[in-house]
Amino acid sequence: MLYSAKVMEHFANPHNVGELKDANGVGEVGNQKCGDIMKMYIKVENDVITDVSFMTFGCGAAIATSSMATDLIKGKPLSEALKLTNKAVVEALDGLPAVKIHCSVLAEQAIKAAIADYYKRQGIDPTPFVGKLEECEACGHDAESCSCGH
Ligand code: FES
Repeated sequence: MLYSAKVMEHFANPHNVGELKDANGVGEVGNQKCGDIMKMYIKVENDVITDVSFMTFGCGAAIATSSMATDLIKGKPLSEALKLTNKAVVEALDGLPAVKIHCSVLAEQAIKAAIADYYKRQGIDPTPFVGKLEECEACGHDAESCSCGH
């Protein structure tokens, strides 16, 4: 079996899907190679992510990783959510095939992009917290030749 039971479960019945109307941080990332797009919405109160949702136009692994990633950061402080790596998401899903690891990278970066957006809306420079965003690494192009629009 290519995909674990957990991946199939989250793909068939993803959690936290849709647009979060009262979100105060929104991040969108894409992967130019496969054309998939992931949008992440967070609602932050007192530095805690009280609600989160996502919309993913992409493959099954991207949907499963978005679903798992939102579960993992819901109710967590921003500082903890920022530590969530794509590796941890993959582990929580009992693994992904090697060719699908890039899909989990999208989930990690969508969370970081949403948190960066939240800081910007507060008038705070997100760089010290979020670091340099690596969207262009996601699309597989270096910054100069990147045309993924991020
Ligand atoms: Fe593009 Fe999965 S194939 S995110």
